Amino acid sequence: MLNIALPKGRLGEKVYDMFARAGYPCPALLENSRKLIFENEEAGVRYFWVKPSDVAIYVERGAADIGVAGKDILLEYRPDVYELLDLKTGICRMAVAAKKDFRDDTTRALRVATKFSNIAEHYYLSKGRDIDIIHLNGSIEIAPILGLSDVIVDIVETGTTLKENDLIVYDTVVPISARLIANKSGSRFKGGEIDRLVAEMAKIVEEKE
Ligand code: PRP
Repeated sequence: MLNIALPKGRLGEKVYDMFARAGYPCPALLENSRKLIFENEEAGVRYFWVKPSDVAIYVERGAADIGVAGKDILLEYRPDVYELLDLKTGICRMAVAAKKDFRDDTTRALRVATKFSNIAEHYYLSKGRDIDIIHLNGSIEIAPILGLSDVIVDIVETGTTLKENDLIVYDTVVPISARLIANKSGSRFKGGEIDRLVAEMAKIVEEKE
């Protein structure tokens, strides 16, 4: 039995559809209930719905053999897992955004609001720019509007949130998409099953392209 952690929400439903088409269906999963664990013995899978930012923790610690996590989470938390496949869904980018009239004053540290402190630090280190990180947990776009920060480093998907808050993208930090990840020791014990699943999922990714 393969234990698979799925990110709860829109991305999780898209990704489950890929697993189902790859031969690992579990229709009960899409029932609108508060249940979080679903099993299909025949297909040899057990799915869990977990908070997207927690998937990598379940996989790293072996509570799940396989999971789906955004590249943003993998870059930010650097979990000790195998990254097996780019699912080419959940596509967005990590970007630097600011108010339209933003001008960088290089005589002082740049105030950067973000949920992704490590990604932001790494990015500005590579640019040799001194920064002051303001770690927030959500609604990051408010920070430059209220003067809490000069810029934000955040996920941009459609660009609607930035547009509706009069912010613009200044630079792309890194492209992001959903990745299939696996626990390192599970990959030794359930290697055959995992290899089969990865091969079937790779076919589904190719079909999409
Ligand atoms: C994410 C991200 C942006 C928004 C980008 O927020 O932090 O705010 O989506 O999407 P868009 O470009 O399509 O508008 P999320 O919904 O996860 O909420 P939070 O970060 O405010 O918690």
